[in-house]
This record gives sequence, structure tokens and C-alpha cells, in this order.
Amino acid sequence: MEEIILVEQSGPIFGEVHLAGAKNAVLVIMASLLLVQGKSVLKNVPASADVEQMIKLLTSLGAVITFDQINKVLTLDATHIENYSIDHSAMRKMRASVLVMGPLLARLGRITLTYPGGCTIGTRPIDYHIKNFKRMGVIIHESDGFLNAETGNLQSTRLVLEYPSVGATENLLMAATLAQGVTQIVNAALEPEVLDLIAVLQKMGAEIAITSPATITIKGVSKLKPVEYTVMHDRLEAGTLLLAAAVTGGEILVHDMSFAHMDVFLLKLEEMGHIIKTDHNNISLRATKYPRAVSFKTSPFPGFPTDLQAPMMVAQCLAEGVSVVEETVFENRLVHCLELQKMGAQIKFDTARAQITGVNQLYGAHVIASDIRASAALVLAGLAAQGQTTISGVDHFRRGYDGFDVKLRALGAAVNIVQVGNFNLAGNKKNLIDSI
Ligand code: UD1
Repeated sequence: MEEIILVEQSGPIFGEVHLAGAKNAVLVIMASLLLVQGKSVLKNVPASADVEQMIKLLTSLGAVITFDQINKVLTLDATHIENYSIDHSAMRKMRASVLVMGPLLARLGRITLTYPGGCTIGTRPIDYHIKNFKRMGVIIHESDGFLNAETGNLQSTRLVLEYPSVGATENLLMAATLAQGVTQIVNAALEPEVLDLIAVLQKMGAEIAITSPATITIKGVSKLKPVEYTVMHDRLEAGTLLLAAAVTGGEILVHDMSFAHMDVFLLKLEEMGHIIKTDHNNISLRATKYPRAVSFKTSPFPGFPTDLQAPMMVAQCLAEGVSVVEETVFENRLVHCLELQKMGAQIKFDTARAQITGVNQLYGAHVIASDIRASAALVLAGLAAQGQTTISGVDHFRRGYDGFDVKLRALGAAVNIVQVGNFNLAGNKKNLIDSI
């Protein structure tokens, strides 16, 4: 039985909401626990499919893990880590699997892995990781698609990233915590999720400082200790919820989120005419009836987050005027434009740039989500579209979010994950939905 997301046009999204733990923080923090012998405790862990996948991967290396999905508490004991070979299927399913590289090199001095997969949003190489591990004294051989990496003692040095890659910064940072001497990562990514990782590592006893311009300095220590840590809330879920209210003409109060994590995104919502109010820990949005189209360009933090590009584009599809969206972080992250076109959106696009002319109405259609954030964007489009929208690619939706459909329903959205028979969705949509 295939699963789809069934979305019906919904009235204004209205209410208050609490956020889940951040997917992009928890995955790397879980990997970082490999650095420590002993049992650590993580709180506010989202029960998403990627977290399940990371649990499987770390368990295969020897970690003993429990996960209380109701209370969102995960314990991880990495006392006995002996396996250093990463299963190809784990690498293929989730790009974040590569984040065990730094901890395993620091802990065991070796790792065997294949190139990672994950969302199809670009070629997503790992050359920055590999180049810089080599600079830290890691010897890496490639044969038959496998990367075999080995090191005696990790060497501390000055590492310069040509682009502030989140994953490369995190991987190198984790490895450097147990290297001898002082490592610097210059042009480091400073996304809030990277800072959350740094906070965990500091709590473990790592010596880390951030200096301008975008440099992380790590003084290696011989040992780290287990931690108890509460993972930050998910700014990408926060942004998507604010947009759900924006595209349905609603009003929402999002708890647990600092505006400092979302400044440029909030600025753009304000430019559209939406009323945004913030205090230290809450953000609210009251939608304007007449949203104006705004152009934006994705870039590393604190710029406009690439992970909110697709959801924000839905808001532009329904705004008054013409906007231009430029995707500069990933080279193939506009695939959702095709799907939005099926719903009546007026978009001209190539691989990196989309020009959108706002329309008064989108229309329900069968669409395909090809990555995590596109799945959320298509749900938003479905909420605003006349009629029913059916979305294939539920696995992407489940990878990124913990009960996001439940949360949206509580705010008045008609969103359900349903099982359907083996129908041709494109051809038989009407019959299919009638039969659910
Ligand atoms: C992380 C996030 C992802 C987010 C992205 C950018 C996680 C689990 N995922 O992905 O949701 O969209 O940051 O904020 O945290 N690149 C290279 N070579 C490398 C590494 C990266 O060319 O070795 C390129 C990528 O192809 C991409 C750009 O650099 O074009 C940014 O990638 P990166 O910041 O590394 O993203 P991820 O860590 O994969």
C-alpha cells in the first residue's frame, strides 16, 4: 500500500504551537556522542524517520540506544564502539550519515564508508570533508566506491573552507575536539544548529571558541565526558508553520523560537505585509489579506535559509506581483517549481532561479515531493489550493518532521497521511480519493 499526504483546502490556520527538536541539530549531536565513553542523555529529540535511521546506524557501530518517543528522550551509551564500517544502505538513505566520520576518526582512528545519498537537491559532494581530513593527517583511499580512512593521531592545523559547509564544519569540529593541539576552522558555517553542537561539545569538556571572521578554534583535549543536553527547537519547522498561517490568511503564535535564528526570513514576511511580533522566545504572525510578492536569495546563516526556500516560494505564488527566487546554496533545489506549476502557479525557472507571478488561486492536483522541504512546501500549497491535493513522497515528509501533520490539524488544517491502493495517481486521482 502506498501512502500519500491528502490535503484539502483549509480555512485560516489559527492557534498556538510548540516546536519539535531540530532535525539538523539532533542528527549531528547524536553522532557527536560517539566521542564519549559512557551514557549520555538527549532531550527534545524529534521522532522523525531520520532520527530512527541515525539510531540504526549508531547501533550498528556498537552504541546502545533507548528512545522514549513520547517524552522525546534518547539515551546513548557509546562505551563499546568497535565497528568502523558504515553500511552502504545507511549512507544512501541519509546524507547526515557522513557525520559519523569525524567522531569515528577521533575515537577509533578509522572509518570505511561510501558516498552519501539523501535528498536529490544537488550533487552534494563531500570533498570539503575529505580534503580537510587529509590536512589533519588522515590517509584516505578510494576503491570500488568505498572510502577507507585511517589515521594515527589526528593533527591539529588551520583548515580553510572554501564555502561554509554545515556538514564539513561539524565533521571537522568533532574530530578536532580530540586532536592534539589547536585546530582552526576558517570560513566555518555558523548556523544555529552548529552552535548547538558546539554547546554540547563544550558541555562534554571540549575547548572551543568562535572568533570573527567566522573562525572556530578548538583546543584538543584527551577525553570528553558524557552529557545531558536539551536539543534546540526547529527553526525550519517554525518557519513552515508561520508560512502555513501566511498562505491561509491565518494567525499563529509559535513558542520556543528566538527571532535571532530567523531574522532575514522574518524580514521578508514583513515585507510581504504580514504582521510579525517577536519577543525573546516567541514569534507570532497575523497574515495580511493582500500579501505583496518579495524576491529573496538563499545563503548561509544568517541569510535566508535554503531549507525555507520551497515553503516561502508557495507564499510568493499567491502574492500580488512578481518575485525572483535565487537558490545559491544547492544547485538543483527548484524541482518543486514543476509541481507548483501543476497546481496553477505561474513560475518560469531554470536550475538556480525562479521568476514567479502571483496568482489569486492555486488548484488541487496530484504532486510529487522530491525532498524533505519540498514535501512541506506542497502541503502548504495544498492548504491554500481549491479542492484536494495529493502528495506522493511521504517518506521525505516523515524524514524531516515529527508529527507535523498532527500539529497542523490541531491548528485547523485538513492534512492527513492516508494509505492508498496501487493506483496510477496521476490518471485516477478522482477515483482514488473517492475510494479512501
Ligand atoms: C545541511 C543541512 C541541510 C541544509 C544545508 C545548508 C543537515 C543534516 N542538513 O546539509 O538541511 O540545507 O546544511 O544549510 O544538517 N558542498 C560541497 N562539498 C562538500 C560539502 C558541501 O560542494 O564537501 C556543497 C553542497 O553540495 C552544497 C553546499 O556546499 O551545495 C552546502 O552544503 P552543506 O552546508 O554542506 O549542507 P549539508 O551539511 O549537506
